[in-house]
Amino acid sequence: MESTDADYLASLASILVAFVTIIFLLHRAWSHLSRTEPDKITNSITITSLKNPDLTVSKEPEIPEGWWSGREVFELERRALFSQTWLYLAHSSQFKKPGSYQSFDISGFPVFLIRGKDDKIRAFHNVCRHRAYTITRKETGVSTVFGCRYHGWSYDTTGRLVKAPQFDDVPGFDKSRNSLFEVHTHTTDQGMVFVNLNSGEPAAFDSLVASSLSGFARIAGLEAKSAWLTGQTLSGDFNWKVGARTRHLDVYTSELHRRMSEVSAPSLVMKFIRFITRKSTREECSLFPITVIYSFQGAGLCLALSFFPASESKTHIRYDVFAHSTVNEPDIRKISEVLQSAAKNLIVEIELEYQSISAKQRSSSELNNTDTRQLLSRLQEHTKLERIKGEQILPAMHKPEGSTLFQKADQFKCFGFQLRLTILLIYSSVQRARLCQRWVAERYFTKCT
Ligand code: FES
Repeated sequence: MESTDADYLASLASILVAFVTIIFLLHRAWSHLSRTEPDKITNSITITSLKNPDLTVSKEPEIPEGWWSGREVFELERRALFSQTWLYLAHSSQFKKPGSYQSFDISGFPVFLIRGKDDKIRAFHNVCRHRAYTITRKETGVSTVFGCRYHGWSYDTTGRLVKAPQFDDVPGFDKSRNSLFEVHTHTTDQGMVFVNLNSGEPAAFDSLVASSLSGFARIAGLEAKSAWLTGQTLSGDFNWKVGARTRHLDVYTSELHRRMSEVSAPSLVMKFIRFITRKSTREECSLFPITVIYSFQGAGLCLALSFFPASESKTHIRYDVFAHSTVNEPDIRKISEVLQSAAKNLIVEIELEYQSISAKQRSSSELNNTDTRQLLSRLQEHTKLERIKGEQILPAMHKPEGSTLFQKADQFKCFGFQLRLTILLIYSSVQRARLCQRWVAERYFTKCT
């Protein structure tokens, strides 16, 4: 009798599990099937109104409303600035061997840099060409093949699609037309890697930036073979423009000084701190709009500090330290620990300042800053072009390729995939319920019979 009850209860449980699983997975499968447009990176920019009067073109630049926390200003910055400006991302020494990669988020555009088997450093949009799933699995790592976890498409280090399970026989499907979207890169003689997200032909790399960089690198001793020591990406709740004000470095360096006086530091670290805190021995090179690179004369070290906007009120801070010569492991660990602690304190400082200035929204004193004026003029120029065209201009947009036939087949394949997954999960849940039923019956009911 008890055994029959147990059978009944376990069967009921397995039916319930299977029923809930069916409903859930069919709902997911149906959402995919009924979606007419696949998620492409091109759809990630929201179309917003062009009617904000503060963004109109005027002779005198002025700080528009929402400068520090407005979504509309941020979207305009994405189109006018981050989608078509050469941005410093990393140094070649950060990519030690073929397959070394690093992922970035540039104002909502996921991008990764990778050293290929041919030793060339390339950049790609970090989205699968099938349904825009993220390709890299970590922020940094080494891999020569990237398999998308969603449906198994795989790419090599040149972005070429090498495997697309079950798609080879789909009419209209062409692997060679489904490589990852490549991003323009420019690597300077000193090994500094810049990217430009413009999907068309970007502006040539600024020769003025190139020459000031080469002058700086000569002083700093930064070269393609410099050694990357340490680096990290941290996040803070503030607008990137607040972080990018270089005066924050003073907060950063004084914090470094304070932290270092608390520890009995190795000589190299003390040397580094001594130089980093002395402005007279500090050289800097501002790479508009998000990076400043510092060299500390005599210390043989360089520090790159970048502010990558994630949204209008969130920013990722990336710092990297480079050395002219080999540094031992304990020194690297100490430098890393101190920099991390100082960067966290820097974030707290910037967040406090952000809270205070975002309440004011506008401040004409901002116009004294050269970077702000340059940014304003870029925004105004772009707004003017959009007004002439009568619609938003999205320079980073890639036009989706592929035939309608392929897209229909793709949806069908995906439905098939979801269906198989559903069946598999139902099967495994029924099996699990049976096992559970047997386990319960053996332990609790057989003894009573
Ligand atoms: S989203 Fe990458 S394989 Fe489908």
